[in-house]
Amino acid sequence: MAKDLLAVVTGGSFGIGGAISKRLAQENISVINFDLQEASDPDIRSCHKAFFEVDVRNKGVIDNAVKQVVETFGKIDILCNNAGVSTMSRVQDLTEEEWDFNFEINSKGVFLVSQSVLNQTMLQSQSGVIVNTASMAGLKGVPLLAHYAASKWAVIGFTKSLAVELAPIGIRVNAVCPGFVRTSMQERELKWEASLRNMTPEDVYKEYLALTPMGRIEEPTDVANAVWMLVSEDSSFITGEALAVTGGANL
Ligand SMILES: NC(=O)c1ccc[n+]([C@@H]2O[C@H](COP(=O)([O-])OP(=O)(O)OC[C@H]3O[C@@H](n4cnc5c(N)ncnc54)[C@H](O)[C@@H]3O)[C@@H](O)[C@H]2O)c1
Repeated sequence: MAKDLLAVVTGGSFGIGGAISKRLAQENISVINFDLQEASDPDIRSCHKAFFEVDVRNKGVIDNAVKQVVETFGKIDILCNNAGVSTMSRVQDLTEEEWDFNFEINSKGVFLVSQSVLNQTMLQSQSGVIVNTASMAGLKGVPLLAHYAASKWAVIGFTKSLAVELAPIGIRVNAVCPGFVRTSMQERELKWEASLRNMTPEDVYKEYLALTPMGRIEEPTDVANAVWMLVSEDSSFITGEALAVTGGANL
């Protein structure tokens, strides 16, 4: 890769975003973290050249943070739209608030940050790579997660459409689709799912394992390695893909 590359990672403080931050830093890329709060793990925090308190739902805050990054560091080469949330509910009980919460962060957030980075730097430099964190739930139907799945199918539709728009100027846009990843999101989901299905979290965890043909729970580094693959020049002719990183759980 060329020298002095700069990446913005959203939701870079914890979980998959923390692992993406570490992987990019390992490749000597300067990583800027856009998150609601700074990383508590010093190993992750030390990978961040700067932290901006950004809620990916807030266009004004995003535009200002991107402006400051471009003024300070010159340009943004890589954007990883990773910030995301989930809630669990059967559709019959799903509230409008839950639907909006998932869509505003998971889908609209990807649009707002992408648009800001494109308009303030990538379209001028006519270069860049975007990798969005979608989900296995963006490739198939998932009970208790219809709203979340819909928000991730939206990410994949946006990824493919933007990829076609930007291909003529050489900006690539791809998505990764993780499976059952060991993060705080998974810890919350294990408890919610257990309660909704009258099971124990341990039994739900065993189901996740059984649903993963490769026989282990996915680690954030599994996703981060795939993100790096899509960022790197080895993927220079790959755009508009939604790459499953699931150990076979989506098959
Ligand atoms: N854990 C899984 O099994 C799994 C599977 C598939 C996809 N994903 C996706 O991976 C991504 C990362 O999830 P994770 O498992 O690491 O979750 P996590 O909860 O551990 O981390 C999510 C990160 O996003 C940040 N964030 C949340 N809302 C935000 C907002 N409004 N603005 C800015 N930052 C915000 C959080 O502070 C946190 O740092 C999400 O998009 C998630 O949907 C996770």
